[in-house]
Amino acid sequence: LNDYVKISPKDDPKKFCVMSQHFVDNYMEKIKKMEIFEDDIWVITFPKCGTTWTQEMVWMIGNNLDYDTSMKILLDDKFPFLECSGIAKEFPFNTFELAKNKPRPRYIKSHLPIFLLPDQLWTVKPKIIYVTRNPKDAAVSWFYHHRNLGMYEGAKTDFIKAFVKDLTLFSPMNDHVIDFWNIRFQPNILFLFFEDMKRNLSQEVKKVMKFMEKDYLQDEIDKLCVHLSFDSIQKNKMINKEEIIEQMSSMTGKEYNPQKFSFIRKGKVGGYKQELAPEENEMLDEYIKKAEYDIEYKF
Ligand code: A3P
Repeated sequence: LNDYVKISPKDDPKKFCVMSQHFVDNYMEKIKKMEIFEDDIWVITFPKCGTTWTQEMVWMIGNNLDYDTSMKILLDDKFPFLECSGIAKEFPFNTFELAKNKPRPRYIKSHLPIFLLPDQLWTVKPKIIYVTRNPKDAAVSWFYHHRNLGMYEGAKTDFIKAFVKDLTLFSPMNDHVIDFWNIRFQPNILFLFFEDMKRNLSQEVKKVMKFMEKDYLQDEIDKLCVHLSFDSIQKNKMINKEEIIEQMSSMTGKEYNPQKFSFIRKGKVGGYKQELAPEENEMLDEYIKKAEYDIEYKF
């Protein structure tokens, strides 16, 4: 797929991450050496695990539930996606500079695995919220993301094959999750599941509040949960990425039809059951088994 390459850390050639050559040439070293501040707030995920949803939750909790600003400024400006402009050289602006130069406290999103993240994250130890999701739902969501943004035109089966062979962007998902799972008890890390957010959003909001040392009344939490509901996020132009998708489609020359594709797509737990053929489901079962997760996934 595209100009992707496997990058490995020097001291561990078995580990790798699939990224674009453009990232390697222009962003990798800069990101590794980036200065980190202790009041930074990071949301880190493998793609399609509920990043956007969590970003809005974290930003609101950190900013005294400032609905006015939330509704005025794009989430991608308030909470930049660090390595985004490293993915494709056509990307119209430098998201690394945007993230780096944000006034403190900075809110930063990344999909990078531990070994590609800034070295200082592990010494300065700012707050990191990590979210994961059933790899089957993530893989299906990642397929639609690629297909609908014109990044991939092949069949779903081939995409799932590429996913389980760790050939898609940011792969492998298994290692990404396990590496954060293994450090989840460090006090600056909060490990969340998409499925828990679906099951009981208010409880997860309270976890994040405690982690961010913020306190809100139950009424305020209830209002925030409405703001974070699927329907509300899907309609919210500051969050639903319509603007970015429009920019991307003008880059790729593909027509964008918001009626046909919304970044906030289905938002279901177990939606893969309607999407995967039995062989695709089995491939993902094998993939998940191979990871030897000791994660008590509640799928
Ligand atoms: P689906 O494609 O399965 O619908 P990310 O932000 O990491 O790219 O993740 C996107 C996924 O999160 C999409 O999954 C999207 O619909 C889902 N999502 C975003 N906001 C949500 C919400 N409020 N409730 C449930 N799912 C949500």
